[in-house]
Amino acid sequence: MCEDEALRDIIPSEALSMFKKLISKDIGIACDFLMRHYRNEYWSRRVGTMPSLRRTRGNYVIKLPNPKPITMAVSNVITVRRSAEDFIDESINIDDLATILYLGLGITGWTQAYGLGKYPLRAYPSAGALQPIEAYPVVHNVVGLKEGLYRYDPFNHALETLKLGKYNSLMVDLALGQDHVGRASVVVILTAFYSRTRWKYWKRALRYVLLDAGATMENIYLAAIGLELSVRAVGAFYDNELCRFLGIDCIEEFPVLLMLIGKEARGF
Ligand SMILES: Cc1cc2nc3c(=O)[nH]c(=O)nc-3n(C[C@H](O)[C@H](O)[C@H](O)COP(=O)(O)O)c2cc1C
Repeated sequence: MCEDEALRDIIPSEALSMFKKLISKDIGIACDFLMRHYRNEYWSRRVGTMPSLRRTRGNYVIKLPNPKPITMAVSNVITVRRSAEDFIDESINIDDLATILYLGLGITGWTQAYGLGKYPLRAYPSAGALQPIEAYPVVHNVVGLKEGLYRYDPFNHALETLKLGKYNSLMVDLALGQDHVGRASVVVILTAFYSRTRWKYWKRALRYVLLDAGATMENIYLAAIGLELSVRAVGAFYDNELCRFLGIDCIEEFPVLLMLIGKEARGF
């Protein structure tokens, strides 16, 4: 985030001098300060209304199968939940991915919202029901899908195809060389579409989108474990490079987590 040259001209000088003081002590604290500061400066000039919840990014749409039932008790799923240490390069099925996406962030209900008519509700709780979390599966090895980058469309429970290709080694590079990322059957990239929450919650928006992402992460963990698959959250990645791969700007929308899903090397 700190590397983004385009933001230099919108950082006020007093924030910049505070940043310079902080960076001599700790680059992490300095970046955190700057990110929060320029977000407020930047967004107050830009956003006043809520962006639409409906969004389309890819032309070729693949309807996903209905989610499968999970029979394991919730208390059991929670207590056996662990992060997979490594993955074997083995396939999972499209209906497993469909189930995980639906239980992670799918539309599970509708409500009547004042002035907005029928309004969707999600598998994850969301501040103001603004639903900023988006999912981009990078398919390495899923029966029923070609390798490539997709976007989950919760309104149609479908995948939009963004680009086809083999991205295992690119994903490893984007995740600071973590090899296990390349061996997962699918990497679901979670992003926060910040402007959806920002127009309403301003200074609290960053906190809220990250909480929404955390709830989505846990849903994905529990759904995958309930399906007897293996899963691991990965938060270490290069922001700007990942944004370029996704075709997002890292400001209005930025990545928060990679969810690795597959079969574990030592079995479930
Ligand atoms: C926000 C977050 C970021 C994480 N980042 C990484 C990561 O970059 N690489 C990795 O291998 N695991 C990562 N993990 C997984 C943790 O290491 C794992 O959850 C932790 O060791 C606890 O183990 P458990 O999930 O099995 O209880 C991350 C987990 C979270 C919640």
